[in-house]
Amino acid sequence: MEFFAVKGGRPLEGTVAVHGAKNSALPILAATLLARGESVLHNCPDLTDIQTALEILAALGCRVRREGRTVLVDTTDCTGTAVPDELMGRMRASVLFLGSLLARGGEAAASWPGGCALGARPIDLHIRAFQALGTEVLDREGRLLCRTRGLRGCRMALPFPSVGATENAMLAACGAAGVTIIHNAAREPEIQDLQGFLRSLGADVRGAGTGEIVIRGGVPLHPGEYTIMADRIVTATYLCAVAAAGGEGEFFGSDGAALLPVLDALEQTGCRIRREPDRVRIWQAGKAAGIGSVTTGPYPGFPTDAQPLLAAVLAGGRGETRITETIFDSRFRYVESLRTMGARIRVEGTTAWITGTPLRGADLEADDLRGGAALTIAALGAEGESRILSPFHIDRGYERLEKAFQALGGRIRRMNE
Ligand code: UD1
Repeated sequence: MEFFAVKGGRPLEGTVAVHGAKNSALPILAATLLARGESVLHNCPDLTDIQTALEILAALGCRVRREGRTVLVDTTDCTGTAVPDELMGRMRASVLFLGSLLARGGEAAASWPGGCALGARPIDLHIRAFQALGTEVLDREGRLLCRTRGLRGCRMALPFPSVGATENAMLAACGAAGVTIIHNAAREPEIQDLQGFLRSLGADVRGAGTGEIVIRGGVPLHPGEYTIMADRIVTATYLCAVAAAGGEGEFFGSDGAALLPVLDALEQTGCRIRREPDRVRIWQAGKAAGIGSVTTGPYPGFPTDAQPLLAAVLAGGRGETRITETIFDSRFRYVESLRTMGARIRVEGTTAWITGTPLRGADLEADDLRGGAALTIAALGAEGESRILSPFHIDRGYERLEKAFQALGGRIRRMNE
């Protein structure tokens, strides 16, 4: 059984380079299917969700290889149209391959997607986007079959700015004849990164980062070369670890512009933050203070993925905070584990009231990716020893999280007993 052994209660100090963004790399890997030939992706993180995406590409007939941080995907012999069930079940973002497969060959099949247990996570918006572009979508005994005789550009308005549905619509629209306009598109930085890669393929896409994305489809595409942006949630994780344990840290890879609500919240807890062109620096002298209230929202709101991370900081701090989760209906599962550490947190529906109090080490179970990272942060800030069980959840989104914390002087080891 694998676990992280953490001895907390000691300030962190050091410098860490932030790896590439998982949530950019996943749709970009799916997008490589749009062009015939070999695309090259730099700064592609080496973590299990990316491994799953590479396995999907290989199962579809692509030749895939990794050279350090660079991944090369050759789609020349890709003839597959179905995402294997087992890979679909491992990760929800597998659904992103459907848009690219439709654009590539007019056909795509998959079972319903898996992923972190964060409550109901339907894909109706993805399906509606495919239908609007002229796809027939059938549910055959739990399998999703998508077929089109030719995608047609259209105007669509998403009822909610879903990140994945926006990406899938962009991917499919690249293969549609004519112009597609996506209204109420998600504005996350990862969508801009996808647009950047699509342009490197020669695609005519504009508007990412705003609520209206315009794609002129049917343009001939060629393989591309692109560098994936630094992971903003990983940056937030490192910053929150320093905020919880005290000390100072310097995190390379971005200027923190994509993280402003998190930086703002951390400053309110008493941290000092400095943004520089290629890095974010943080200093935390005392215990994190409560900050009144925080509400998650679509970008540029407070990111739901950073919600458990901030909660871990506040739980071990002092003072009161109310956190309201508006994106997922079940994203407080980590609270039970924090309570084992002595945390004072009351949850009602999608709101958590946190009263900061010193935490003590405990045996904790990582239930999902960001929840697991949050427990690790809490353990670094707590007095005594903790064991974080099931770190495979954490490995889905972090390249060896324990190594980054070791570089900051954190007493954390991956054990197997
Ligand atoms: C992406 C991120 C995830 C992040 C989330 C919100 C990836 C690989 N994952 O997930 O880390 O937490 O954005 O920032 O990029 N919804 C529907 N129907 C749909 C699609 C979504 O009702 O067809 C709902 C979801 O259940 C959820 C909300 O919309 O309540 C947001 O989901 P969405 O933005 O689509 O998140 P993901 O793309 O799954």
